[in-house]
Amino acid sequence: MRFNRVTAEVIERLKRIVGEDYVITSPEELEKYSIDEIEERYRHLPEVVVKPRTPEEIAAIMKLANEYRIPVTPRGAGTGLSGGAVPAHGGIVLSLERMNEILEIDPDNMMVTVEPGVVLADMMRAVEARGLFYPVDVSTLESCHVGGNVAENAGGARAVKYGITGHWVYGLEMVTPTGEIVHLGGKRIKDATGYNLVQLVVGSEGTLGIITKITFRLTVKPKYVLDLLIPFDSLENAVTQVLGLLREESSLSAIEFMDSLSIKAAERYLKLTLPYDDSEAHLLIQVDGMEEEGIWQAAERVYERLTAAGAKEVFVADNRLTREKLWRARRNIAEALKALNNYVSVEDIVVPRSKIPEIARRLRELSQIHDLEVPLYGHIGDGNLHPTPVSGDRDEETWIRDLEAFLSDMFKAVKELGGNITAEHGVGIKRRKYLHLCVEPAEIELMKAIKRAWDPNGILNPGKIFPVEGTC
Ligand code: LAC
Ligand code: ZN
Repeated sequence: MRFNRVTAEVIERLKRIVGEDYVITSPEELEKYSIDEIEERYRHLPEVVVKPRTPEEIAAIMKLANEYRIPVTPRGAGTGLSGGAVPAHGGIVLSLERMNEILEIDPDNMMVTVEPGVVLADMMRAVEARGLFYPVDVSTLESCHVGGNVAENAGGARAVKYGITGHWVYGLEMVTPTGEIVHLGGKRIKDATGYNLVQLVVGSEGTLGIITKITFRLTVKPKYVLDLLIPFDSLENAVTQVLGLLREESSLSAIEFMDSLSIKAAERYLKLTLPYDDSEAHLLIQVDGMEEEGIWQAAERVYERLTAAGAKEVFVADNRLTREKLWRARRNIAEALKALNNYVSVEDIVVPRSKIPEIARRLRELSQIHDLEVPLYGHIGDGNLHPTPVSGDRDEETWIRDLEAFLSDMFKAVKELGGNITAEHGVGIKRRKYLHLCVEPAEIELMKAIKRAWDPNGILNPGKIFPVEGTC
């Protein structure tokens, strides 16, 4: 597949579509749109950035890009961790930053309709002010855009009870790769009419369309929330407790895990101290519900089970400040590890939950075999962990060699245990060469056939999920 370069004529036509002010070509600005939160070595400059305001403008851009065979990479806030917003083949970056309005909160249908450039936490606060609740709690909630959440099917901490982004997406307005504006799904709770294209677009990493409006379902806001921080002297003890908790308690909305390397990094980076920070591992558990007594009883049962299993203490955070401190530490681990090390790789594996203790054991073993420090944290209640190898004092070449050896062993272990290479960050450019390790060839072929049918010229976010034919 061959792409063409952006010419002066294309720039002129883009200006006619979105207006001169919203076509960016200055080198300093292009630089800002050349990377997201993936590692620096994946950086790639776009040739031009456009900032449309309407679906009609986006449709016109896609038609133009097809005419000239120019790649288009949609971009939200650039908080993604797999390179979804990196223009890996140059061309146009299409930034959705100006499409940032909350269009409608509909209490009767318990739904909200927003543009893709709305910041997740702003949407959460807006619906909460109306007594409603959007529960998907992503670590970067104060900066990420909801459009990116849908495109990557973001997961976050409360999936244990509330599921991931896709569970809440009911309607989409989207511009197809060939420049048609389509409306998929809607405010219907049940709909068995034909293929579920909404859920095909969810998690398609910006390769099947540009999302221009989203209708999310909402739920009832829990009245009471408690967070429990539980230190363990043994990592094994901590992880083996998770399954029992899940089987016995329905009010747990998050079961997060942090090992001592992760906690220490967050403490150093944020300049704060957590209780019992000399422990080998911590669980961070959230309990929520409508009855105050009910959540305290659940917390009590968690306390009894976990102290009997070797927990040193159960620290209860029932006020906003303490709860925020715990979650700030948890949410900032990836950021902290990046800031404190030359090179890191934030991984995103998932295994069936019964295999949680086994994958934790294997990761520790692989870290020793490869002599690589691998802080471990993540959404253990979902079987989704973020092992994050760090470089130490390795130079870049040695780091990449050692990292790749570690990753292929890690993904082999993940496959053996029935897991997969990414749970919530996406394949992007970061993991495309590992896709075949865990996904069978026939499934990859079906995915490619869908991509070809929707995007015959292969211009929308090329190089993501699978490499462009003829490249590696
Ligand atoms: C987190 C990101 C890395 O869970 O997904 O903090
Ligand atoms: Zn995560």
